[in-house]
Amino acid sequence: MEQAYRENKVRAIGVSNYTTSHMQELLETCQVQPALNQVELHPFYPQNELHQLCSKSNVLIQAYSSFGEGSLLNPSSVYHQTLVQRIMQKVPDFNSQHLPHHLLHWALARNISVIPKSTTPGRIASNFEVFNVPVDEKIRDVMDQLLSDGLVKPIKFCWDPLSIS
Ligand SMILES: NC(=O)c1ccc[n+]([C@@H]2O[C@H](COP(=O)([O-])OP(=O)(O)OC[C@H]3O[C@@H](n4cnc5c(N)ncnc54)[C@H](OP(=O)(O)O)[C@@H]3O)[C@@H](O)[C@H]2O)c1
Repeated sequence: MEQAYRENKVRAIGVSNYTTSHMQELLETCQVQPALNQVELHPFYPQNELHQLCSKSNVLIQAYSSFGEGSLLNPSSVYHQTLVQRIMQKVPDFNSQHLPHHLLHWALARNISVIPKSTTPGRIASNFEVFNVPVDEKIRDVMDQLLSDGLVKPIKFCWDPLSIS
């Protein structure tokens, strides 16, 4: 990838599923720094340490599974129910219609790029409305603090790159 960059075949290079230790090792040895690291990231798996390291090193984080592969938006999922309960403790009149937008706001506010996925045209259009839905800082704070009391445990919805040494 570095060679392709040096030969002007690509404008930027990036990595995916790099953990903090993978990234530390890469930053110590690379000649061309990756522009981006695409990883699973959402309020149940906020990757704070990795986010800090990448921000400090000027590597953009791109979140996949912003919706927990759909679980965070599915009313029958315990993760959706937990998130909505926590939000309603602070915003009693919360309407979960805009939950996708608030999940995207949460990531964007941390300077994290997002790639929400849907195969449903109406949802794709609705997800693009993110910039027309007002940011609610109380909801963002709930998402920021979701794991802080230890009652809600971190959860990954995708595979675990920690298993790669
Ligand atoms: N680098 C990697 O290793 C890696 C790993 C996983 C994923 N990815 C990429 O990350 C992107 C994100 O995909 P993801 O699968 O992780 O999931 P995601 O964006 O967290 O969630 C996708 C799911 O959410 C549902 N959804 C989307 N918008 C919705 C809305 N407004 N209301 C209700 N449900 C909604 C979709 O259902 P419908 O389709 O039925 O609408 C789909 O089941 C994809 O491009 C994927 O290729 C990369």
